[in-house]
Amino acid sequence: MLKIDLAGKRALVAGVADDGGYGFAIAKALAEAGASVVVGTWPPALNIFLNLLERGKMDESRKLSSGAMLQFEKIYPLDAAFTTLAEAPADIRENKRYKDNGDFSIDGLATRLVADFGERPLDILVHSLANGPEVKKPLLETSRAGYLAAMSASAYSLVAMVHRFSPLMRPNGSFVSLTYMASEKVIPGYGGGMSSAKAALESDTRVLAYEAGRAHGVRVNTISAGPLASRAASAIGIIEKMVEYVSKNAPMTEVLTAKDVAHAAAFLCSPLASGITGTTLYVDKGYHAMGMAVQDP
Ligand SMILES: NC(=O)c1ccc[n+]([C@@H]2O[C@H](COP(=O)([O-])OP(=O)(O)OC[C@H]3O[C@@H](n4cnc5c(N)ncnc54)[C@H](O)[C@@H]3O)[C@@H](O)[C@H]2O)c1
Repeated sequence: MLKIDLAGKRALVAGVADDGGYGFAIAKALAEAGASVVVGTWPPALNIFLNLLERGKMDESRKLSSGAMLQFEKIYPLDAAFTTLAEAPADIRENKRYKDNGDFSIDGLATRLVADFGERPLDILVHSLANGPEVKKPLLETSRAGYLAAMSASAYSLVAMVHRFSPLMRPNGSFVSLTYMASEKVIPGYGGGMSSAKAALESDTRVLAYEAGRAHGVRVNTISAGPLASRAASAIGIIEKMVEYVSKNAPMTEVLTAKDVAHAAAFLCSPLASGITGTTLYVDKGYHAMGMAVQDP
């Protein structure tokens, strides 16, 4: 039987802080396929996440098909806006949500992974994080600082992670990130430079696939996911409308679930996708193929 088999592999899923987003669903799918999973969580969300886990608030969503519970081998603090701790400004380092976390930078996470699991600790890295402080502002009104912050957290973070983690990957390593079609078509309301950041993420996926593929033998892909009412997406303010619009107008009219995206991610991370790199894979019930809204009969 042909199946997704990730037994013996370790995945790092960066961008999990609750059970409502794509990162959690992907972590679960990777575990269903047999991988062990560590996560990287944004320090401001870390305590809430640990509390939810401890108090059993996610037990229902942690149930695997085997009946066992999804376990995170480790939960690391990660602020992907910083490649090294030295880059983080003093007010962040001294902030109460950050200061007891040690080195929360990309480099800090890589160093901890090596200390915990050895020189080649990883097979899979999922980048499932984004942040645009001015996402509610139209691009036209976005400040330089807001635009660059969106780019830094949501796009450059992938460049820094592929650079730092590629040498830590075992053979046939795979990177997957999450993008959104606002990179290529106008989505009113998806502002603050987030559309620009997603365009950069998709372009960088191609270039990184080439460069890191040649240098380290890793694959780099991105999934262009349809709208999902996750915590991050709720910050946009119109996510329910976006979900409803897509289900009305997409070729497939069932509402897209995080699991749809998670299964595609598990496939892309698996040996079954060994010929796929540099790709933007749409997982959006086909909405990207439409050129006009469906007319009411
Ligand atoms: N929800 C959607 O409609 C949708 C559609 C397409 C693509 N995506 C993408 O999917 C990915 C996951 O988002 P989601 O919607 O599942 O929401 P989510 O809230 O589950 O995930 C976003 C995560 O990013 C983390 N984060 C923010 N800034 C960070 C930083 N500087 N360093 C580390 N972590 C940081 C947040 O704490 C959160 O855990 C994002 O890249 C998002 O743009 C989402």
